[in-house]
Amino acid sequence: MRVPFLDLRQVNARHQHEMEEAMARVIASGWYVLGEEVRAFEEAFSVYCGTKFCIGVSNGLDALHLILKGLDVGAGDEVIVPANTFVATWLAVSYCGAKPVAVETEAHGFNIDPELAEAAITPKTKAIVAVHLYGKTARMKALRELSLRHGIPLIEDAAQAHGALCEGIKAGKLGHAAGFSFYPGKDLGALGDAGAVTTDDEALARRIRLLRNYGSEQKYEHLLPGFNARLDELQAAVLRGKLRHLDADNQARRLIAGRYLDELADCGVELPDRSDLDESVWHLFVVQSGKRDVLRNQLQSRGVETGVHYPVPPHLQRAYAGLGYRRGDFPVTERLHDRVLSLPLWPGMHESMIDHVIRSVRECAD
Ligand SMILES: Cc1ncc(COP(=O)(O)O)c(C=O)c1O
Repeated sequence: MRVPFLDLRQVNARHQHEMEEAMARVIASGWYVLGEEVRAFEEAFSVYCGTKFCIGVSNGLDALHLILKGLDVGAGDEVIVPANTFVATWLAVSYCGAKPVAVETEAHGFNIDPELAEAAITPKTKAIVAVHLYGKTARMKALRELSLRHGIPLIEDAAQAHGALCEGIKAGKLGHAAGFSFYPGKDLGALGDAGAVTTDDEALARRIRLLRNYGSEQKYEHLLPGFNARLDELQAAVLRGKLRHLDADNQARRLIAGRYLDELADCGVELPDRSDLDESVWHLFVVQSGKRDVLRNQLQSRGVETGVHYPVPPHLQRAYAGLGYRRGDFPVTERLHDRVLSLPLWPGMHESMIDHVIRSVRECAD
């Protein structure tokens, strides 16, 4: 049996009719950029996250970039970022001409260590970006406290955490502002690139609205040297429909994660923390193994496709050679990158596929 790591055709087939109707509505409207669909999606997503404002943008990287720009982060500034993240978190800082300052991962978990984040603060620190990796929020209470203590804004990279909770509060409302990605494979995925910013800060929301649209509120009047980073009407219309299914999809993810946690216990792979079951949205189900590559090949030969998120951390990428980081600088993160393996987990995954993944992991890892 073949189990795809993620079958987007199947994920989206469940909403095909609704998506076709949404797209037909946009085509018939004759209005394709910054119109009623974007406005309605922004409203629905801000209600979903519990924030006052949502600004639809072109993708998750631009969402983070515009937040930092909106906070006036620029050349000579430092921004604290997790060592363990997808490179886009760092790129958003680089886009502003600022320096990403990496912080080690917490000992138990995958997210930034708040105590080490505090130790990395300098007079040049302009923001802290916390990433909710794999669908599990970072330790936001501790991070919020240090952000308040030092007067430094705390930004969420919520690209993998649509609907995730931290002590009952939704991702998107846990810091000063949050950047979301709606890349097709995300928990809330568009049919192309798309993203959003959520915030309760009215002045920041207004600046980001300007920045995403050439610095303009009124046509041909430019208040800031902005960008073209808009969410388009077609993607907004698709997202509006899919947002209605997000909670059910996240619940489906939780059920699969629950089965993996129960049925892969004591079989030679390290599992994610069970206490995260209800609050995480399980964007990825990441196990750890000292023989990750062997295990991955064995699973592949049984038809089980897996992923590695991520094989090389940003501080060891050539793109960041200029920052002077070396292998060994972040041992917790580097160890994770050698050990992590993501198992197939997506809403609509058939029971027989889940059974096959469990059986195969047990056979290969025991
Ligand atoms: C943690 C994280 N941050 C940022 C991004 C960037 O999002 P996008 O691909 O929409 O630019 C991603 C998505 O791939 C991500 O996983």
